[in-house]
Amino acid sequence: MLSIDLTGKRAFVAGVADDHGYGWAVVRALSAAGASVCVGTWPPVWRIFTKSLERGKLDMTRPGGGEIEIEKIYPLDAVFDTPEDVPEAVRNDKRYVEVSGYTIQEVADAMKADFGEGSFDILVHSLANGPEVQSPLVETSRAGYLAALSASSYSLVSMVSRFAPLMRPDSAVCSLSYLAAERVVPGYGGGMSSAKAALESDTRTLAFEAGRRWRMRVNTISAGPLASRAAKAIGIVDKMVEYYTANSPLPEVNTADDVGNTTAFLCSPLAAGISGVTLYVDKGFHAMGMSPGPYLELFPLK
Ligand SMILES: NC(=O)c1ccc[n+]([C@@H]2O[C@H](COP(=O)([O-])OP(=O)(O)OC[C@H]3O[C@@H](n4cnc5c(N)ncnc54)[C@H](O)[C@@H]3O)[C@@H](O)[C@H]2O)c1
Repeated sequence: MLSIDLTGKRAFVAGVADDHGYGWAVVRALSAAGASVCVGTWPPVWRIFTKSLERGKLDMTRPGGGEIEIEKIYPLDAVFDTPEDVPEAVRNDKRYVEVSGYTIQEVADAMKADFGEGSFDILVHSLANGPEVQSPLVETSRAGYLAALSASSYSLVSMVSRFAPLMRPDSAVCSLSYLAAERVVPGYGGGMSSAKAALESDTRTLAFEAGRRWRMRVNTISAGPLASRAAKAIGIVDKMVEYYTANSPLPEVNTADDVGNTTAFLCSPLAAGISGVTLYVDKGFHAMGMSPGPYLELFPLK
């Protein structure tokens, strides 16, 4: 039987802070396929995440049986590459003083100290932030636009280059994108559409460069809407979910597990020939050119 087997592989999933988002679904799927999983958690939500874990408040069930085990949690702020990049105000912020070593390079160094060089096989980038996401692009400030790109796009470039020494040959990188990279999604503002466009373009270039240098595969998943904590910041995600469900070829709510399972596949040897792709996991919504709404009666649900 052909199955996704990640036994003996170690993954790092960046952008996990609760059990509602895509990051957690990725952890579930990788863990169910047999991988050891470490996660990276943003300092402002570090305390709430670690406390929730300690108090048993997260859904640790693993598809197929057993419990999810997280090998190690690293604090990670993906907008900082090295300690010199961290402004004093952030360093002294009460949510940051209780953690240390959260820049990308420091996390890479800590992972190397913990597990050694060549000890990871999978890197998943499941994070994004656009402080002005509720502003139309045309009203977005330069600072807001650049902040969206820094957190949501450049973070992948930095992580690939700084984590590369930790990765074994034939490793896989996967990130999470959104259709607004290539089509207009009203309300997905603040430069987040530009950030996702950069992420998808960088996926192709990184696939070439990291493929040649380190034999890494780099892909991204263009996921359908999910009412995660981050997506709630957009302000309209519930309406987006409703619209997708009504208008997709598969008229069902998009699930986090759809995305988690596809990530596990893309990061597995079964996808050894796939690199540089943007793969849609959105119940087919991306293929639509028009809503069937005006003549819905012609397309009854079976
Ligand atoms: N939810 C959706 O509708 C949707 C659709 C398509 C793509 N995505 C993408 O999926 C990914 C995961 O998002 P999600 O919607 O599951 O929400 P989520 O809230 O579960 O995940 C986003 C994570 O990013 C973290 N984060 C924010 N800024 C960070 C920083 N500077 N450094 C490190 N971590 C940081 C947050 O703490 C959070 O844990 C994102 O890339 C998002 O754009 C989401």
